[in-house]
Amino acid sequence: MIKSIVNFMRRSPEREAEENEEVLKARLDPSRIPRHVAVIMDGNGRWALRRGMPRAYGHRAGVESLRDVVRVSSEIGLQVLTVYAFSTENWKRPQEEIDVLMNLLVEYLHKEIDELCRNNVRVRAIGKIDELPAHARRAVAVAHERTKNCTGLVLNIALNYGGRTELVEAVRAIAVKVAGNELSPDDINQEVISRHLYTAGQPDPDLLIRPSGDYRVSNFLLWQLAYTEFWLTDVMWPDFRRVHLLKALVDFQRRHRRFGGLN
Ligand code: IPE
Ligand code: IPE
Ligand code: MG
Repeated sequence: MIKSIVNFMRRSPEREAEENEEVLKARLDPSRIPRHVAVIMDGNGRWALRRGMPRAYGHRAGVESLRDVVRVSSEIGLQVLTVYAFSTENWKRPQEEIDVLMNLLVEYLHKEIDELCRNNVRVRAIGKIDELPAHARRAVAVAHERTKNCTGLVLNIALNYGGRTELVEAVRAIAVKVAGNELSPDDINQEVISRHLYTAGQPDPDLLIRPSGDYRVSNFLLWQLAYTEFWLTDVMWPDFRRVHLLKALVDFQRRHRRFGGLN
């Protein structure tokens, strides 16, 4: 009795997280792991301000969460993980904050690339990449090239990404094909549209995770989220760890997706 009380008092938060992780992993049905999980990495700024720190401090802390989530996604055998890192609307922020975000991206890719390769992770950037600053474009190109033969997890990093822009680009590409008699208007269907999106060839997300207590889509994957399950949490992105992802997956596996049908 006394021994168990002593043991209980000795439990550190890390130990507790490890135990939780084991319990959650054991609860996961390996045959029903979602194919594609999308994450809106939100709440960095508020997390930092609550600690009396500048917003940049929160962005830096958020990179740790990304590392953790990529590792566990790869371990459990997800096919695709899409993370929202910078939206087409985020250019409205002060230049100083934009610079911090771009520098962190470059640093993340630079530091992680070896581990990503070792873990067979294929890195892809989705969004209007040509509008990014040159050093960010270069880092993306290097990561793309280095991981192009990897066959494990596909990590889509949404950068200068906007769901509406993605649809505009798809419509334009289809219009060019119609004008060039490559495609007839009668042949345009959902599958053709999907094939012209940045996520062409990938399954739609099964699960969307948004931390930080905001309940909105913020122009993310507008077409692809048609039947995605949502998992929202008040946890801020810099506090988001593998246990939160595992919890989201366990909850996901309890849901009944009907796609408009009855079962
Ligand atoms: C997410 O955190 C990072 C980006 C949007 C690039 P925020 O910077 O939006 O943090 P909050 O939402 O203001 O707390
Ligand atoms: C969404 O977060 C974009 C990213 C996480 C990159 P925002 O913070 O930009 O979204 P809003 O402005 O709260 O809707
Ligand atoms: Mg935000």
